[in-house]
Amino acid sequence: MTIPRDIVPGSNTVVPSTPSPTAFFNAGTSPSYEANYFPAVPKKQLKPFNTGDIKILLLEDVNCTARELLQKEGYQVEFHTTSFRDIELIEKIRDVHVIGIRSKTRLTASVLDHAKNLLAIGCFCIGTNQVDLGYAAKRGITVFNSPFSNSRSVAELVIAEVIMLARRIGDKSMEMHFGTWQKASTRCCEIRGKVLGIVGYGHIGSQLSVLAESMGMSVLFYDIIPLMAIGKARQVKNLSELLVLSDFVTLHVPETQETRDLIGYAELKAMKQGSCLINASRGCSVDLQALCEAMRSGHLAGAALDVFPREPSADGPYFNEDLGRWVREIRDLPNIILTPHIGGSTKEAQEAIGTEVGGALVRYINFGCTIGAVNMPEVTLRNLAAPDESHLRVIFIHRNRPGVLRQVNDILGDHNVDMQMSDSRGDIAYMMADISKVDLAEVHALYNKLEILSCKIPNFLMSFGISLGLSH
Ligand SMILES: NC(=O)c1ccc[n+]([C@@H]2O[C@H](COP(=O)([O-])OP(=O)(O)OC[C@H]3O[C@@H](n4cnc5c(N)ncnc54)[C@H](O)[C@@H]3O)[C@@H](O)[C@H]2O)c1
Repeated sequence: MTIPRDIVPGSNTVVPSTPSPTAFFNAGTSPSYEANYFPAVPKKQLKPFNTGDIKILLLEDVNCTARELLQKEGYQVEFHTTSFRDIELIEKIRDVHVIGIRSKTRLTASVLDHAKNLLAIGCFCIGTNQVDLGYAAKRGITVFNSPFSNSRSVAELVIAEVIMLARRIGDKSMEMHFGTWQKASTRCCEIRGKVLGIVGYGHIGSQLSVLAESMGMSVLFYDIIPLMAIGKARQVKNLSELLVLSDFVTLHVPETQETRDLIGYAELKAMKQGSCLINASRGCSVDLQALCEAMRSGHLAGAALDVFPREPSADGPYFNEDLGRWVREIRDLPNIILTPHIGGSTKEAQEAIGTEVGGALVRYINFGCTIGAVNMPEVTLRNLAAPDESHLRVIFIHRNRPGVLRQVNDILGDHNVDMQMSDSRGDIAYMMADISKVDLAEVHALYNKLEILSCKIPNFLMSFGISLGLSH
């Protein structure tokens, strides 16, 4: 059995009105000081930890791969296909240790204030804007998401779009839907032998590179960092070089100050006559007014857009001028493929997201590993295994202040610390230590000593162990 945290101060906990932590630690560990000091803190009711105690709430029809994975661990999993709002959400979140959501559930500071036991939030999607990440970190709540599980799906969509633009399939299909048979193949071409220019050679860009080469294209890419090219792809020195040489330019960059309006009038002008532009990355990376003009003038032969500077917040007839004047102009252009931000939306991507976020939650609950967290430092130690009898893992999430580690280590220093790792992110620091040859009485004392440190934050400490797993 593996062990999650114990320790959120209970309402009956009297934290002594204390000497400052510095005074406490300077006082050393003499028996007289401890005798006077520690009895003021009521003993925690620690009990053996059982994975069945962990309550998980999954909302918004999170993929069944996640549900199965979490249930297999023995956690209590409550599953809902919809999201909850306001009072209902507050009621549901009150007692759970983990909540799993997608993009519709808003976890604001005022909602999180009611989540007294919450250890982790799993965002089973790419974005995390729906969660107040900073506030969650301040409460010691770790947030996970799945940024890369849908990379392949996006890459496949882009390959499809390259072919569809080359053959003007969007327009042909539209004509047929309106009853027109127009067999002309003017300005249609194969993609074999053409140059694909990839801007941003990360998870998606590099996948795309492989697919494009296997279809006979030559691949150039531009990235702000030097990267190992896959296959025969070649990294170019700057964006201009890529624009001048490519028949198809596709964007796969994150949203940063530098990528805002990355493609504007000047860049479109630099692109080859008759080339095409694809954007399935961020809506703000293309100046749509400039794109419309480049398309109307015939300089660009086609474009495909999956992302937009503003997108409707609900499904329905909302892709209209309420979003901006550019909508009407874009809808009227020929050979432009418009899709509603579905680049990563496939069955396989959803399954992969379920597995990735579900797995991250299990590693966090069972082992305290924060790899993949978006609001906490990423810290891990090797997994505890069956032979690690009498082994305790202590996680101390605390405010990142000078001197805190010294205080913590003064406490841990009396024990047999096998491994320790600490890292910080902004105001929050995360310390993980493995202690062996520890017995139950020592665990209680250790816990109570850490409990009174003033740097601790609400959901601050977890203990894990094979034989000594405790919760309260
Ligand atoms: N359409 C969709 O449904 C969908 C789905 C998934 C991801 N995305 C978006 O696709 C984009 C790429 O995703 P990813 O997973 O490949 O990201 P990634 O972080 O793996 O790769 C991004 C690459 O862009 C590079 N880069 C950063 N700034 C740059 C600049 N100014 N010029 C050139 N290169 C730059 C980075 O160095 C990195 O190699 C992201 O914006 C992501 O949000 C869209």
